[in-house]
Amino acid sequence: MLTDAEREEIEAEVHHYPQRRNACIDALQIVQRHRGWVSDEGVRDVAALLDLSPEEVDGVATFYNLIFRRPVGRHVILLCDSVSCWLMGCDRVREQLTARLGIAFGQTSTDGRFTLLPVQCLGTCDHAPALMIDAELYRDLTPERLDEILRGHAEESVYGATADQEYSAGRGAA
Ligand code: FES
Repeated sequence: MLTDAEREEIEAEVHHYPQRRNACIDALQIVQRHRGWVSDEGVRDVAALLDLSPEEVDGVATFYNLIFRRPVGRHVILLCDSVSCWLMGCDRVREQLTARLGIAFGQTSTDGRFTLLPVQCLGTCDHAPALMIDAELYRDLTPERLDEILRGHAEESVYGATADQEYSAGRGAA
């Protein structure tokens, strides 16, 4: 069930659109902000509030790669693996992330701090390779820069994800 806070925030977004259903992405983002990810129950709750079917909401959530349909770590690393970043060595960045965090694409670190996901072009191809951690964009990555970035996130608690938690490909990780 949606909390009062979630419901109020979603209703505030609904007012910006001609139809309730148009607020679907906003509603999913709100649920995710409160819960860390969007469960099947969250999908059903959003659907009921916006006069949509759960299948319609699930379709939006699956298409939109920043909506997580599985639990994720405290921080989500979105590593661009599109062509410019691939040419500029995103594979090396991925290997370094795997070595440092002990996870591959689709997995969450044992301490629940990081989930690593691939993402399509982040729109900063002239500064490849690039990644995002949560809402922050990091460009022109080098091994030294990447270690510095990870050290900057070396703290705090978890959402409760586990090490071998596979993040289903195509369910938000596209
Ligand atoms: S290809 Fe990576 S930012 Fe465009």
